[in-house]
Amino acid sequence: MGIGLVGCHSAPALTPQEAAGKHLYQVRCAHCHEDNDLALKKVPPDLHGVFARKTLPSGAPATDAAVRQNVLAGKGMMPGFTGRFTEEQMAALLAYLHTGLR
Ligand code: HEC
Repeated sequence: MGIGLVGCHSAPALTPQEAAGKHLYQVRCAHCHEDNDLALKKVPPDLHGVFARKTLPSGAPATDAAVRQNVLAGKGMMPGFTGRFTEEQMAALLAYLHTGLR
């Protein structure tokens, strides 16, 4: 698929785990978080660099545990993904979010 070769000029290529997370993000998260395709009144926050700040948009600490919990349980208009991701997939998703979304 050319992942790691496209779209990043200076950053190093994604690891296989990050690339797997990128795929999950693009399939499961980006339609809301980048396109807001459901036209939610509460616009899903931009997740670029989400771990570069101390807090998540809600004010919760920007930790793996908090993001994992948010993804599994959902929040407000965001659906919960309990049972949709294996542990391996969740780890990949978090690894990709840690790249700042390259
Ligand atoms: C149906 C649209 C939708 C989908 C799909 C979705 N989200 Fe969200 N997400 C939202 C909305 C809306 C919020 C804001 C929730 C709030 O604060 O009320 C949000 C908030 C968040 C936050 C910030 C939480 C906080 O505490 O500030 C994170 C992180 C997040 N989403 C990650 C993800 C990830 C990762 C995925 C894919 C696995 C995903 N979301 C899929 C709509 C969505």
